[in-house]
Amino acid sequence: QTIETEETNLPIPPLLKDHNDDPNKAEFHLTAQNATKEFVPGKTTETMGYNGDYLGPAIRVRKGEEVSVKVENELDEITTIHWHGLEVDGDADGGPHSGIKPGSSWSPEFKIQQPAATLWYHPHPEQETGKQVYKGLAGLFLIEDEVSDRLDIPKEYGVNDVPLVIQDKRFNSDGSFEYNLGMHDVMNGLQGATMLVNGAVNPLLEVPSGMVRLRLLNGSNASVYDLNFSNNQSFYQIASDGGFLEKPEKMDNLVLGPAERAEILVDFSDLKKGEMVRLQNKGSEFMKFTAKGKSQKDFTIPNKLTTIEKIEPNQAVKTRDFVFEGMGPTVNINGKQFDMDRIDEEVQLNDTEIWEISNESGMGMMGGTVHPFHAHGVQFQVLKRDGNPPPANETGWKDTVIVNPGEKVKVIATFKYPGDFMYHCHILEHEDAGMMGQFRVKE
Ligand code: C2O
Ligand code: CU
Repeated sequence: QTIETEETNLPIPPLLKDHNDDPNKAEFHLTAQNATKEFVPGKTTETMGYNGDYLGPAIRVRKGEEVSVKVENELDEITTIHWHGLEVDGDADGGPHSGIKPGSSWSPEFKIQQPAATLWYHPHPEQETGKQVYKGLAGLFLIEDEVSDRLDIPKEYGVNDVPLVIQDKRFNSDGSFEYNLGMHDVMNGLQGATMLVNGAVNPLLEVPSGMVRLRLLNGSNASVYDLNFSNNQSFYQIASDGGFLEKPEKMDNLVLGPAERAEILVDFSDLKKGEMVRLQNKGSEFMKFTAKGKSQKDFTIPNKLTTIEKIEPNQAVKTRDFVFEGMGPTVNINGKQFDMDRIDEEVQLNDTEIWEISNESGMGMMGGTVHPFHAHGVQFQVLKRDGNPPPANETGWKDTVIVNPGEKVKVIATFKYPGDFMYHCHILEHEDAGMMGQFRVKE
């Protein structure tokens, strides 16, 4: 059931303090902790958060910066922290091998070498990722660069450049999160009827009446959202998972799978005082916007955002097939379930490869289930979606791509960072059930 609450102001994740004064370096501190929060009025929910009670602060870095993060684990169980979408060596990636025991810490260091983008971070312990993310462990990781500096788009964090972590939850009557997986949840992942944005139920944001940039993260465990605005206004997508698209794409609705991000520009200048517009997913509401006085500055939609060098299929030295199959507890990739001690694929450093991901789960009788494919440590380009060129908003850098039942999605990537990495379904209940494999990038 959905829970009824009063409208609250949309919380904005704070920007995490950089403890290094050197402009070319950054040092951050994150603590994973147990906490409680009131989502349902008068009831207490046990949560997990980074530096707080639910979700975590936004980390903002620049391309070229040397970054170190000290991650402390104050939970009473093992955790890890994975930089989703970040191109780094395997030992800094934070997959299930990089377990942080309770009471200890982990301090990866890496250099930011990829374009401006909205990435995120979340835990990745073997078989426990779903539960820990569900309880609240997730945060945004924003990269800026010369391109984002130069573009004349909204950049005032929390004012007209607004991060929205969207999720859905199921609450028990005592206010606790329900994370007992029933048969349907094992099949399709855990989906709830209560929508959260930045950890708030039924939030409202007052925006300047002008152009607003929304950085959307589908931070749900398992839901694919089809987002639109209640007044049916169109908007422009300007970035996908790994950074800006070449040019803004006008859209009326946006499909976002678990772990996918999109930045959109929305023009709220026609919104009258007192008028509200809802961001919604097929009838269920995420949040409301109202507009205040005119923004200081009016923005126009840029014609061009950036240049993306296309990786040509003839640069690929190898094609690999990944068949996602099985249902519920039997989900697997190429007939195998995850084994921490097994490397499934070996890739030569700096090679370009084509990966073909097929979704053959439950074809026929059950109507199938979607599998969002994600690979660590690399950004890829989508070549084909079921034999056809990808839609315009999937022509930029991606690290997660929806693969619908019966579909085959072809992606291409150059593997520039050595080490061991994961590839998996980003329905976290499928990942935890074993729909994950490992690839080693060898020097
Ligand atoms: Cu967002 Cu392997 O994860
Ligand atoms: Cu899946």
